[in-house]
Amino acid sequence: MKALLLENIHPGATRVFQAAGFEVETVPQSPAKKLLAQMMGDVAVLGIRSKTRIGPDILQRAPRLSAIGAFCIGTEQIDSSACSAKGISVFNAPYSNTRSVVEIALGEMIMLLRGVFENSSRLHRGIWAKSAEGYHEIRGKRLGIIGYGNIGSQLSTLAESLGMEVGYCDIEEKLSLGNARKYPLKELLGRSDIVTVHVDGRESNRNFIGEKEFAGMKEGVIFLNLSRGFVVDVEALARHLRNGRIRGAALDVFPEEPESSKASFSSVLQGLPNVILTPHIGGSTEEAQAGIGDFVAERIVAYFATGSTVSSVNFPVYHPTGRTYLHRFAHIHENIPGMLARINEVFARRNVNIAGQQLVTRGTIGYAIIDVDGPCGKGILPELEAIPNTIRARLVY
Ligand code: NAI
Repeated sequence: MKALLLENIHPGATRVFQAAGFEVETVPQSPAKKLLAQMMGDVAVLGIRSKTRIGPDILQRAPRLSAIGAFCIGTEQIDSSACSAKGISVFNAPYSNTRSVVEIALGEMIMLLRGVFENSSRLHRGIWAKSAEGYHEIRGKRLGIIGYGNIGSQLSTLAESLGMEVGYCDIEEKLSLGNARKYPLKELLGRSDIVTVHVDGRESNRNFIGEKEFAGMKEGVIFLNLSRGFVVDVEALARHLRNGRIRGAALDVFPEEPESSKASFSSVLQGLPNVILTPHIGGSTEEAQAGIGDFVAERIVAYFATGSTVSSVNFPVYHPTGRTYLHRFAHIHENIPGMLARINEVFARRNVNIAGQQLVTRGTIGYAIIDVDGPCGKGILPELEAIPNTIRARLVY
C-alpha cells in the first residue's frame, strides 16, 4: 500500500509507515490541485498539513484512498463529509503541540511582567535604565484562563507549579486540576492579573473578547491570545493598551494572517510598547512536529492493522479491546436501520460463526467490526460490499 506524504511532514511519520510495510512517497510542498489529482491513483494514505485542500474533486480521483492524515491540529482544509461519504477516515493530532503553546505562554507572561522586551530594546539603543518599579514576579498572581481544554488545562497545572493562583472559565463542565477554580467569565476578567485566551475556533467565538470584556478587566492587566485571531477584537485591544488599562499583551494569532512567509504583515498592534507579536508559532517546535508525525502515522497504521478509529475526526470511535480471532472485517455503511442484520445474514449464509461484533455510529456513518473464528471462503468481501447502503467493506486481517 502506498502512503503519499506532502508538505514536509516530519520524517518520523515516514519511518512509522515504512515499519508497517507501506511504500512511502514524500513531496516537500503542496502540489497544485491538478497535479495532486494525477498523483492519487494508487494512494491508500494521504498525509497533508494545512496548505493542501481536499474536496470531492481530489477524492474522485483517489479510488484506493482509505485514510487521510492531517499532520496538524485543524482539519478545516479537508471536506470531512465528502470523505465520510466515500468511507475515508480522517485523522489529526489534537494535542501534540499543546506543551509548546503552554511553554511560550508562560514565557511571555514572565517577559511581560518584567518588561523584558522594552528593557532589551532600550539597551540595544544604548539606554541603561535599571529599575524594579512596576515589575513583578508571576508567583502569587491571579491567572485567568478562558477555555479550559487541552492547552488551558495543561497551562493551569504548570502555572500553579510556578505559584500562580489559577481561575478559569469554560462553556463545558470541566474537571478543575490542582487548586484551579472555575468562575463566570465576567468575574474571571475582573479578578485576574493575567488573562489568557485558549478557546477553540468555533464561529460563535468571533470577537468574543471585545470592548466590553477589555473594559471589565482589572486596571494594569496582562493579556494573551494564542488561540485564534478572530476571537479578539484587536482594535479594542489596541485602544485599551493605549489608555493603559492593559499593561502588556502577547499575540500569536491575528484576524488576518499572511498566507506565506513572503507576504507582509500589518496590525494596529504594531509599535505599541510592551506588546509581543509572534507569527502564529505557539505550537511550532521541532518537538511538536515530531510528536505530530508519530501520533498521526501511528493512528493510521492502527486503523489498517486493527480497524481502530481512535482520533478519527469523522468516523465513529472504535477502540479494539479483548482477544483477536482468525479474521476481522470492517464494514462502513450509511447509518440506517437493519444494516447489522444484513451483514450478519452474509456470514450466516456461509455458515461462518461471528465470534465478536461491534457497531458504532456517528452522524451519517455506521462502522461495524466483525470478528470470525473460522475461514470464510472466497468472495465474501464482494458480498459484503453488495449489501445496499454499503459505503465500503474491508478485510482488516
Ligand atoms: P480544545 O478544543 O481542547 O479546548 C478549547 C476549550 O475552549 C474547550 O474546553 C471549549 O469548551 C472551550 N470554549 C470554547 N468556546 C468557549 C467560550 N466562548 N468560552 C469559554 N470556553 C470556551 O482546544 P486546544 O487544543 O486547547 O486549543 C485551544 C486553541 O488554541 C484553539 O483555538 C487552537 O486552534 C489554538 N492553537 C493555537 C496554536 C498556536 O500555534 N498558536 C497551536 C495549537 C492550538
